[in-house]
Amino acid sequence: MEKFLIKGSSSKGVKGLINCSGAKNAVLPLMASSILFENTVTLKNVPLGANDVQTMIILLKSLGSKVQILKKKKILKINNTKKHKLLVKYQYISTMRAGVLAMGALLGKYKKCSTALSGGCSLGPRPIGYHLAGFKKLNCKYNLNKGYINIISPNGIKGGHFRFPRVSVTGTSNLILASVLANGQVITISNISIEPEVLDLIKFLRNGGARIYNTGKRTIKIYGVKKLNGHQHEVIGDRIEAFSYLCAAAITKGKIKIKKIDPKHLITELKVLKKIGCIIKVDKSSIELNRKNNLKTTNLKTAPFPGFATDCMPMLMAVLTKAAGKSKIEETIFTNRYMAAPELVRMGAKINIKKSIAFIIGQSNLNGADCISSDLRSTFAIILGAMAANGESCISRVYHGLRGYSNLYNNLKKIGVNIKKKS
Ligand code: EPZ
Repeated sequence: MEKFLIKGSSSKGVKGLINCSGAKNAVLPLMASSILFENTVTLKNVPLGANDVQTMIILLKSLGSKVQILKKKKILKINNTKKHKLLVKYQYISTMRAGVLAMGALLGKYKKCSTALSGGCSLGPRPIGYHLAGFKKLNCKYNLNKGYINIISPNGIKGGHFRFPRVSVTGTSNLILASVLANGQVITISNISIEPEVLDLIKFLRNGGARIYNTGKRTIKIYGVKKLNGHQHEVIGDRIEAFSYLCAAAITKGKIKIKKIDPKHLITELKVLKKIGCIIKVDKSSIELNRKNNLKTTNLKTAPFPGFATDCMPMLMAVLTKAAGKSKIEETIFTNRYMAAPELVRMGAKINIKKSIAFIIGQSNLNGADCISSDLRSTFAIILGAMAANGESCISRVYHGLRGYSNLYNNLKKIGVNIKKKS
């Protein structure tokens, strides 16, 4: 169980350049979608250092895919000529919810599969009722037996219209994966997620021959085709990773430049960083943050894209502990996204959680403390607190953070964080 020892300082700002990795939440659906293709799919800019990507590789191999990893070039070549096994085991879903995306792909290609029902996680229950309601609308039948969803579309996916009751990122991707090979059928999906990662999947599928059309605000129409052809695709930059490192400069009065990221994927988040006093410069594929002045307070609500991303909220909460005055954050996506708050309070932060709202009274100093991480984004939020606190912090269970951040330790060292690993 790896720990990070961080010696922070309230006066030393981080400085440096970070090359943003490919987006974890883009590459996972892209990898699952490879099941649909007749031949080799090549993915570039893959965040191979993120453990969830390794889990998805193992999952695909367990189904019979051939996966070639070109580590130095950050390339995955996935060959799916072989008939796949149709069982997605619990051991893959339990640590990586995105394994549920294999269900849509297997259903789309083979019209049936058995997928373990994902458990909850520290963010709260992670139901897939919308996914299943969508599949049902497209002529699928399913039952739950011994923790596995056994799903089948006896006469294939049929045309129809499904509207998501609320925006669901992997729900949207799953329905698209199930629909693109429904040859001759027309499937309309509304109230879809328009997160950049979902749009990257749609772009990839279209370039492989899928017929997916935007027919209105958050609505697409899919004309099923017979087959898709494998091709090359560059994964978009990870906007959550980019925001995380920008927050490192924001909380420590530092200066960071992030390359290989599209600022258009962080419009709302960059507006908030500017509002609290950070100087932001962007060009088409980089973002620079310089923090010279004292931080200001703010109030915000998380929301589906293009709103403020729930995944960015824990890191902003950490930054706001240094903004003199009262800030308020309302989390609207998950029931339990404030796992970093009690750990930051151990460092002296003043955060009070009432239901889905965090009330933060910012102040000047935090002090190092022993902390325990409990989920992916809270890990980074705690690291932010530790780097801005006076003294040493020991953060346990950092493996949660290694699920979604490639090169976390090396990147933190590179920007000047005084960090050591401790087993
Ligand atoms: C995706 O999770 C991301 N994961 C999450 O990132 C992200 O926080 C989340 O979207 C919201 O943006 C991946 O893309 C792999 P949802 P997902 O379905 O798809 C409820 C990270 O940090 N809901 O958009 O699982 C659900 O409980 C991770 O990288 C249902 O009720 O989230 C939640 O309250 C954490 N029934 C809300 O909808 C369903 O069938 C949004 O969930 C599906 C979802």
